Amino acid sequence: MNFELKALTAAAAAREKCDLLLVLVSEQTALGSDAIGTIVSHAVKQGDFALSCGKQLALYQVPAVAARRVLLLGVGAGSARDVRNALQGCAAALKAEGLEKAALHFAFEADAKAVACAVQTLGDATYAYTHTKSQAKPLSLKKVTLGVPSKTAAVAAAFEIGVAQQEGVAMAREWANRPANHATPTMLANAAKGIAKAARMSCKIHGPAEVAKLGMGAFMAVAQGSREPLRFIELHYNGGAKGDAPIVLVGKGITFDTGGISLKPAAEMDEMKFDMGGAASVLGVFQSLAKLQPAINVVGLIPACENMPDGAAVKPGDVVTSMSGQTIEILNTDAEGRLVLCDALHYAARFKPAALVDMATLTGACVIALGGLRSGLFSANDELASALQTAGDAAMDPCWRMPLDDEYADGLKSNFADMGNVAGRAAGAVTAAKFLQKFVGDIPWAHLDIAGTAWKSGAAKGATGRPVGLLLQFLLSKAASAKPVKTAKVAKAAPAPRSASTRKRAASTASKAGA
Ligand code: BES
Ligand code: MN
Ligand code: ZN
Repeated sequence: MNFELKALTAAAAAREKCDLLLVLVSEQTALGSDAIGTIVSHAVKQGDFALSCGKQLALYQVPAVAARRVLLLGVGAGSARDVRNALQGCAAALKAEGLEKAALHFAFEADAKAVACAVQTLGDATYAYTHTKSQAKPLSLKKVTLGVPSKTAAVAAAFEIGVAQQEGVAMAREWANRPANHATPTMLANAAKGIAKAARMSCKIHGPAEVAKLGMGAFMAVAQGSREPLRFIELHYNGGAKGDAPIVLVGKGITFDTGGISLKPAAEMDEMKFDMGGAASVLGVFQSLAKLQPAINVVGLIPACENMPDGAAVKPGDVVTSMSGQTIEILNTDAEGRLVLCDALHYAARFKPAALVDMATLTGACVIALGGLRSGLFSANDELASALQTAGDAAMDPCWRMPLDDEYADGLKSNFADMGNVAGRAAGAVTAAKFLQKFVGDIPWAHLDIAGTAWKSGAAKGATGRPVGLLLQFLLSKAASAKPVKTAKVAKAAPAPRSASTRKRAASTASKAGA
């Protein structure tokens, strides 16, 4: 989607030539005697429209309004949340056939956050998965112009971030949505290479031989039951000063999780194609960084493989040696995420990270604990935890801190190795995090369990692109607090994932069943 921001008075909004004019009217809107103001006043007086959030009034061929169609949207107090809720309700209108150009007029002084949020919501509302659909019609909407009463520097900056963020979110959704046979470890690696064509980016792909040489025995154990070769993807973005400690992001990249020999039940197993949601969010964040070119160094690591049952698959009771040298008794082959992550986390130490953050669709227990609203946040570092929580709130991609008391690790004891890969059923999300913690040493580390938030089940089944928003916000706040080092060059455009047919876009609103 093409987004444009410009200053627009109510009178100018009426003159804006487009197929659809969305007018956001808040309780603060001063209704003037211009064409739109007059209509809103009348409609409110007649009881056909109200300013409370979510109210709509569709109008056609309004006198003195250039747009073919006008949609009045009440946004209540006009907060970012109100704007999001109001815009989510007009996804269908944006996808109408023949609609090519839309304009969104803020009929009140919207703050920067509301403008960024509008862009993200429009991006979400107009995304549709088409990659493996033979009959998908392309979305006709080509451009959305956002009109604000005053285009301040803060609003313009937030707009740019919103545009980059929705592109990253769309990329994460696209890769997570693709079925496992259309999103193999090799295909994810190729996607990373595509993103890394942007300025200040590079990418290194490690195959089975390199991973064996590194001694990633835990990661290899998960991959050994699959015909698909594993990939260890390493992305670098160097926007900061040379030698500035990077933020390292690690994303779980299980492109399909059958459970392995500890096989999962058949019901809803298809959703385990989303088990690379963490990996997809790393790709999405790098796509956003490519566009924004902030002054920060970031490393992205993705251990990618399938978890399959097979004659060669790892068996319950097998003991493997992780890259750290610690041995692991694999008591349950379905607890594979922590096995691929522990080697990636150990590998991360070589970059001497300022912070290390992993994202993983790690435990069903986290879905039970927090549902689909907030991701689980685990960190022993108060400063890092609070920065991530703040970033999540600001990006409306929230998380919630969970405990990490040492006693939670008691259940990981093994009679045959340094640790088992599972504890009991109790506090399953916490014991998984305690397992990971054994591999991070004293690096400031946080773990985001996104099992409940990375995708939705049921009629709205599909990836959400979370936690791209949270991570991008976190990285940008780090970049802002660091001293500026150099002016950003213009980014080379990185290709978006290609679809079988042209991209059409759709909204998904329902939440994950049982979440
Ligand atoms: N990918 C799953 C976690 C998952 C399950 C995410 C359901 C979203 C919905 C993970 O690999 C897994 O299977 N975890 C096990 C761990 C258990 C064996 C300790 C789980 O949560 O059941
Ligand atoms: Mn599993
Ligand atoms: Zn898994």
